[in-house]
Amino acid sequence: MWPSVIEEAAKRIQASSWAVALTGAGISVESGIPDFRSPGGLWSKYDPMEYGDIRSFRANPGKVWRMLIDMEHMLIDAAPNAAHYALATLEREGFLKGVITQNVDSLHQRAGSRHVVEFHGHGRSARCDWCGREVPREALKVQDVPPRCVCGGPMRPNFVFFGEDIPRAAYLQAMHMMERCDVLLVVGTSATVAPASHLPLMAKDRGAFVIEVNPNVTDLTSIHTNLHVPMPAGQALPAMVSALGLSLE
Ligand code: APR
Repeated sequence: MWPSVIEEAAKRIQASSWAVALTGAGISVESGIPDFRSPGGLWSKYDPMEYGDIRSFRANPGKVWRMLIDMEHMLIDAAPNAAHYALATLEREGFLKGVITQNVDSLHQRAGSRHVVEFHGHGRSARCDWCGREVPREALKVQDVPPRCVCGGPMRPNFVFFGEDIPRAAYLQAMHMMERCDVLLVVGTSATVAPASHLPLMAKDRGAFVIEVNPNVTDLTSIHTNLHVPMPAGQALPAMVSALGLSLE
């Protein structure tokens, strides 16, 4: 027997014709990567305006790179957890059209998800902030920060800083998915950072049923969420997969 919220979520997913997931840092917590805003998260150690904003990067790229290296150390040994595999299984079995993620850790792809929209970019490559030249992240030496391009410009990760636009292709794909989806599974996000935080509102306005998987309540829970599953993603999502009669990827 599953908790009734799991049964209900599984029923909604089964009955859906276009289900989509929106994920945030919480889905990777059980992979050992702290989220941003929980106690002990990255933003309790670093002031986001001082380290996460593009203006801060441009004013002092070396200082921001020291934070980025700290962040990368958290990601380096991380592997997908049961929640990532559960979403990959739902997609493989035809229950999920894709995942929009705010995460830059590539764990969805490593778990086998195929249609992943990286709303905030990714950490697999870096580019020059002046001329745009791209290099794979592993080709970048960071003994001296900031690492520099041959043109002299500071290299930057290929993810989005505060104050920057969402990559255009990712934005358009996410809009399309919000227009079409009839179930939105919101997993592990505080839904505090726009425009990602607007996606559940858009889906809801267009009639989608919003299932929120988060051990805590968020700004979405009482207003926009139709069904709150107050459990860690690594328990809740595999339970939904089992309740659908499937086994994990
Ligand atoms: N399972 C599900 N949810 C969890 C778990 C878990 N095991 N552990 C924590 N959470 C929830 C927390 O309760 C919180 O609501 O995950 C959420 C994480 O919220 P944030 O730390 O704010 O992360 P996120 O929503 O992804 O942040 C959005 O902010 O700084 C930027 O660019 C960064 O993409 C990031 C964006």
